[in-house]
Amino acid sequence: MNRILAPSVLSADFSRLGEEVRATEENGAQYLHLDVMDGIFVPSISFGLPVIRTLRPCSRQIFDVHLMITEPDRYVADFAEAGADIITVHQEACLHLDRTLQHIRELGKKAGVALNPATPAESIRWVLPQVDMVLVMSVNPGFGGQALIPYTLEKVRKLRQMLLQEGLETDIEVDGGVKLSNAREVLAAGANILVAGSAVFGKKTGANTRAFMEILDQKV
Ligand code: DX5
Ligand code: ZN
Repeated sequence: MNRILAPSVLSADFSRLGEEVRATEENGAQYLHLDVMDGIFVPSISFGLPVIRTLRPCSRQIFDVHLMITEPDRYVADFAEAGADIITVHQEACLHLDRTLQHIRELGKKAGVALNPATPAESIRWVLPQVDMVLVMSVNPGFGGQALIPYTLEKVRKLRQMLLQEGLETDIEVDGGVKLSNAREVLAAGANILVAGSAVFGKKTGANTRAFMEILDQKV
């Protein structure tokens, strides 16, 4: 499976966002992770459509949009139009998850589903064939810079097993508390996409990106 780094711009310096994003792209990060928060589904408010629209022409990366919002179905068409390539909705925020996933695919985008730490892998069992990426939250969503909750890696193992049993090679992305020091462990659990915010952005955005890419490029 393709191993991918998805730097989360939530931790970037917003006064020079274009530059920060370019540093990740030039150093090998294939995705850009965009965390949209509405202050209701999660306590924080982050950014939305205008920021994504503005960044779109600055980067050729896959735009991996993580919607931490209630009733995401109302907005998926807008995010598709703004430049999202992957649209991930939370299982917990969707009353009609099957319909929302269909909606995202009908827009020609990849459909992702995110699970909060307490949400079981089994909750998405029946929709797995309609999902292009499963996002396992390894912290409670809402903030960057938190520590990874160890039991969430057990869920990654479980999901990889479920997918194998169904004959599916679906991407598993782990989001929250991913560092250079635990990246190998996260990959070994069965994830192939790493989100990293605070461990990528900072004084050495380019060098940090390269360090992650070295780990991701190592043969398993
Ligand atoms: C948290 C967000 C994450 C966050 C990760 O709710 O979904 O994408 O930016 O940040 P770090 O890597 O610092 O935990
Ligand atoms: Zn995220």
